[in-house]
Amino acid sequence: MAGLIEEGREIIDEGEDQDDLAADLALIAAAQKVEHYEISGYGTARALAGQTGQPAIAQLLASTLAEEEIADNLLTQIARELMGNARLRGATENGVTAATEANDTADDPESQETSTRRSRLHSTTKSR
Ligand SMILES: [Fe+2]
Repeated sequence: MAGLIEEGREIIDEGEDQDDLAADLALIAAAQKVEHYEISGYGTARALAGQTGQPAIAQLLASTLAEEEIADNLLTQIARELMGNARLRGATENGVTAATEANDTADDPESQETSTRRSRLHSTTKSR
């Protein structure tokens, strides 16, 4: 953990020389490393508590683990929003149309996954 904190300090220092987006994304990545470290530790501790017959402790550790996972997911969400905003700014600055942006998402696996889910939902609701 001390190494992760030291790495975070270095990223903060380096961020002063970077543009805001790069600095923010680097900070998010550093924070997520800490969250992943915590998730690993709490997950292991929860499993050990469960296997040694300590359900109250396992439950408490599961709650803390869930909090760490929520923090990790929020950081991912923030990073995606920052990247999305940067893409939109870049598209606007380069005169790219919304149609071109829509075509770009066809290559994005996450967009394809969302599209697949929407298709499944649509076919499920139609069959009822
Ligand atoms: Fe955390």
